[in-house]
Amino acid sequence: MNIAVIGLGYVGLQVASALSKLQNVVAFDIDKKRLEELKLGKDISGEVTQDDLLQGTLHYTADEQDLKNIDFYIIAVPTPIDSDNNPDLSLLEQASRTVSRYLSVGNIVVYESTVYPGATEEVCLPILEKGSGLKLNTDFSLGYSPERINPGDKSHTFKNIKKIVSASNEKALDIIDNVYRSVVEAGTFRAKDIKTAEAAKVIENTQRDLNIALINELAMLFKDLDIETNEVLEAASTKWNFLDFKPGLVGGHCVGVDPYYLTHKAKEVGFNPEVILSGRKINDSMPVFIVNTIEKQVREMGVPLEEMVVNLLGITFKENCPDIRNSKPLEIFNLLQPKVKVIHVTDPCVVSEELKLKNNLVNKDFNDLPKADITIIANNHKQYLELTSQDLMEITKPKGIIYDLKNVVVKDLIQSSVKVWKL
Ligand SMILES: NC(=O)c1ccc[n+]([C@@H]2O[C@H](COP(=O)([O-])OP(=O)(O)OC[C@H]3O[C@@H](n4cnc5c(N)ncnc54)[C@H](O)[C@@H]3O)[C@@H](O)[C@H]2O)c1
Repeated sequence: MNIAVIGLGYVGLQVASALSKLQNVVAFDIDKKRLEELKLGKDISGEVTQDDLLQGTLHYTADEQDLKNIDFYIIAVPTPIDSDNNPDLSLLEQASRTVSRYLSVGNIVVYESTVYPGATEEVCLPILEKGSGLKLNTDFSLGYSPERINPGDKSHTFKNIKKIVSASNEKALDIIDNVYRSVVEAGTFRAKDIKTAEAAKVIENTQRDLNIALINELAMLFKDLDIETNEVLEAASTKWNFLDFKPGLVGGHCVGVDPYYLTHKAKEVGFNPEVILSGRKINDSMPVFIVNTIEKQVREMGVPLEEMVVNLLGITFKENCPDIRNSKPLEIFNLLQPKVKVIHVTDPCVVSEELKLKNNLVNKDFNDLPKADITIIANNHKQYLELTSQDLMEITKPKGIIYDLKNVVVKDLIQSSVKVWKL
């Protein structure tokens, strides 16, 4: 079978790379800069190695003509939300239109992008049928196989995460299942139908979002009750069925976005998803809560906030990942910057050129940070887990405050004159 992967981001590149170990794969993207980098063996997302990118079986292309004579299309383009938190399916529609121009009898089109239940058949399928003049299940088949990769996580990888597969007919399901099982060692799960697979993906992230929201709400309550959240969680975790979630910042383009896809669909059918939206509201409000806390504490100290020098450790949306899209640490930066003297940003994972280009921010070397009044640790990158109290004292004034949002600060620092505030 000739296989093409459309969209070579965090997901598509890993899928294409895995399949290219077995055969040639057409790797299609509209971003020419990304393609040039991949051709040189450079994946700025840091997920695929240079050797894998250059092994010769991946045919990187932005030329639509290369999508001719393909039997099996995999679409993995972004599915973001707009400024009103509504699904933005424009890239998915665009990719579907592209594929529709080359679709021929016997082909299978599998979507990997996260969507709301029903989107593949209600939005993508009509585009494929209209553009190709072909009919589903008579001429071609449809599949949906959501992705569970976790950027920055080297233990849960494309190969060892079980993959859900689904299709518009049994024969296509067998083929899709075989394709994925040839590269996913953990195997596959055959969902009842496409809608079920779409719903499964979107609730995985919704559940995670809600669990974190609950702990964030508890963390805010415990501040008022003068109780240490991490100590409470440590104690409660000794019960066999207590779920081990930590307070934190939910950003990026999956956990903080996917629930909105589900709530959009819920509202479309007249259902009011109260719990899901409450969780979203709490998690979205965390940067404001943190900045308000900083403001309040500095005011209590009797020092003008506008004279404060701040070090912000971590700007990407999550640990060990270079992605700055929908980054909550970045939101904290934007909220705090107008109120303080200066904020120095440092991050060992971010792509410095991208941070400069997109946000006009300089990524400082950790060793070049001055002693600040306020140090915010916004990410638990593996480098930050290794920070000693000495390292932190060197970048924080003796009477300063460290805002430890990811519980990485070692306990002995708490004995020093530096105040440590944990989320
Ligand atoms: N990143 C993750 O951790 C993750 C995990 C599971 C699921 N997902 C889902 O997978 C999908 C893809 O996410 P991602 O993180 O890989 O996105 P991404 O932003 O990293 O990359 C998407 C790529 O698609 C390309 N693209 C956009 N429109 C295109 C088009 N019309 N034709 C061809 N290429 C096009 C972009 O240039 C980009 O290179 C999304 O629906 C996302 O929610 C992501």
